Amino acid sequence: MAIKKNNKTSELPEILPNHIGFIMDGNGRWAKKRMMPRTFGHAEGGRTFEKIVRYCRDIGIKCISFYAFSTENWKRSSEEITALMGLFMQYLNRVSDYYKEEVRMIFVGDRSALSPELIALMDKVEEDTKNFDKMTLYLAINYGGRDEIKYAARRIAQKVKDGELNPEDITEKTISDHIYTTEYPDIDLLIRPSGELRLSNYMLWQCAYAEFYFSDVLWPDFLPAELDKALHAYAGRQRRFGGV
Ligand code: FPP
Repeated sequence: MAIKKNNKTSELPEILPNHIGFIMDGNGRWAKKRMMPRTFGHAEGGRTFEKIVRYCRDIGIKCISFYAFSTENWKRSSEEITALMGLFMQYLNRVSDYYKEEVRMIFVGDRSALSPELIALMDKVEEDTKNFDKMTLYLAINYGGRDEIKYAARRIAQKVKDGELNPEDITEKTISDHIYTTEYPDIDLLIRPSGELRLSNYMLWQCAYAEFYFSDVLWPDFLPAELDKALHAYAGRQRRFGGV
């Protein structure tokens, strides 16, 4: 599904995606090129994330989602994990002021492995922003697409066991209704910078009909001008959803 942009400008296409997903890749290489630690790249990646959020809000995108920390990212050094969690905390501590009355924030992923402080902050931000409707921002923390499908399968199985649901009544919508967030619309445009051509376990169910855009630019350099290129590429795609 696509929406028409409110404030037309000559640089942007007429048709914009309703939901853009971002895999923020390339922070480590960006830092390495500058002979700096990986955490330096994540901090710059965080600044780029904020610029992209504001830009998407300003041009009228209704929904954006970001892969901030995957279920596989626990394999990284404790120093890097601590730095990333610290960045999330710093950001969430000031986010309510930042996007006042504009951006609703929803977190996706398994919260059970996160610190109580971070979980409390996530709950607070979701509560504080729940009535904002200009744009919805989904932040995936400790998220994995397969983990999410497993989570949905367990919840559905429990309902079958409890006699609340017949197996033959399970539809695609049943699965959509039992993943991490039931309000999460399908991704229209999935962007992965840094030259990697993979989905890396991101939103497997929600990317079924996504258009993919890959770029060699590393995430910290993926500024609004790069997003414009992706939006133009998207506007030129023919989406048939399996039809002709
Ligand atoms: C992957 O790039 C990036 C991550 C695992 C972390 C992404 C997180 C941020 C950009 C910070 C976001 C901040 C907020 C506040 C949401 P990589 O480090 O694996 O890159 P590499 O492949 O070059 O090593």
